[in-house]
Amino acid sequence: MRKIFITGNNGQLGRELTRLLSDDEVIGYDLPELDISQYEPTRALIKEVRPDVVINCAAMTNVDGCETMEEEAYLANAEGPKNLGRITKDLDIPFVHISTDYVFDGEGIQGENGLRPYTEDDTPGPVSVYGKSKLLGEEGTKVNPKHFILRTAWLYGDGHNFIKTMRALSKNHDVVTVVDDQYGSPTSSVDLAQAVVDLIETENYGTYHATNQGVCSWADLAEEVLKDTSTEVKRVTSEEYEKIAGKTVAPRPKWSVLENKHLQDVGLDSFRDWKDSVHEYLEKLDKEEL
Ligand SMILES: NC(=O)c1ccc[n+]([C@@H]2O[C@H](COP(=O)([O-])OP(=O)(O)OC[C@H]3O[C@@H](n4cnc5c(N)ncnc54)[C@H](OP(=O)(O)O)[C@@H]3O)[C@@H](O)[C@H]2O)c1
Repeated sequence: MRKIFITGNNGQLGRELTRLLSDDEVIGYDLPELDISQYEPTRALIKEVRPDVVINCAAMTNVDGCETMEEEAYLANAEGPKNLGRITKDLDIPFVHISTDYVFDGEGIQGENGLRPYTEDDTPGPVSVYGKSKLLGEEGTKVNPKHFILRTAWLYGDGHNFIKTMRALSKNHDVVTVVDDQYGSPTSSVDLAQAVVDLIETENYGTYHATNQGVCSWADLAEEVLKDTSTEVKRVTSEEYEKIAGKTVAPRPKWSVLENKHLQDVGLDSFRDWKDSVHEYLEKLDKEEL
């Protein structure tokens, strides 16, 4: 039986991976028991457990919070993975780290028919503290040659996320106002967890884009989530939304679309269309399974 050490096991992805890996021995930690930015205690714990692989799901994911609490953001998102990269390298075990579309500037790159998805070969250029700290986290991860970095986007699962917010708003709002000019691929924690599990069966170390198939705007996603309710989605531009709700602290990417090119190259892109995964998730929420 494999021993799998998961950090941030109480987050959306951490919980899903723990479910998926139920045939393995999963040793999971989160704050406050384990703070991955603390090198010595983290090293001592991992050395004691001697896992076959370490999967880091821990991060400071509050994008606006990262902007105002810069030091904490760099500790969790840069120092933490750097520590884990060093520790796993010394123990000669594979290390999986999760990163984000925010490592790109979010302006998109012109393709033949409009903006094209970012591939793993495009040069990052983060513009927010979250994105900059996560990119440093990728660099720290790479200290261990046996690394898998999976960049995902618009993640939802067992935790707080946009889909749950829309459903909660629909309970007491006839209309919700949602931006219609920021694009991405809503990604299911179930599907992302599966991609992690598939990759750790291999030695195809490297950086991977890992998102569900297809592209939509936040308003498209809201409409899909609310289509069986009486709540209407009012589509606005980011500029119009800022006038209503105020400017977000961190800039939001207009284009968060990633192509799973490297997963396709290794024959491991099993991500479904975003709508299929969203509907599976909505059914679970309806049945109160999450
Ligand atoms: N959510 C998204 O839309 C999204 C998009 C792209 C990429 N990602 C990436 O995907 C990964 C998983 O995201 P998620 O949505 O599952 O995150 P999440 O639900 O926010 O869970 C992250 C977990 O890490 C914990 N944590 C924070 N700092 C820590 C530290 N220093 N040491 C140990 N644990 C710490 C958090 O604890 P507290 O809650 O107590 O802080 C939380 O339990 C992250 O790397 C994230 O950057 C997420």
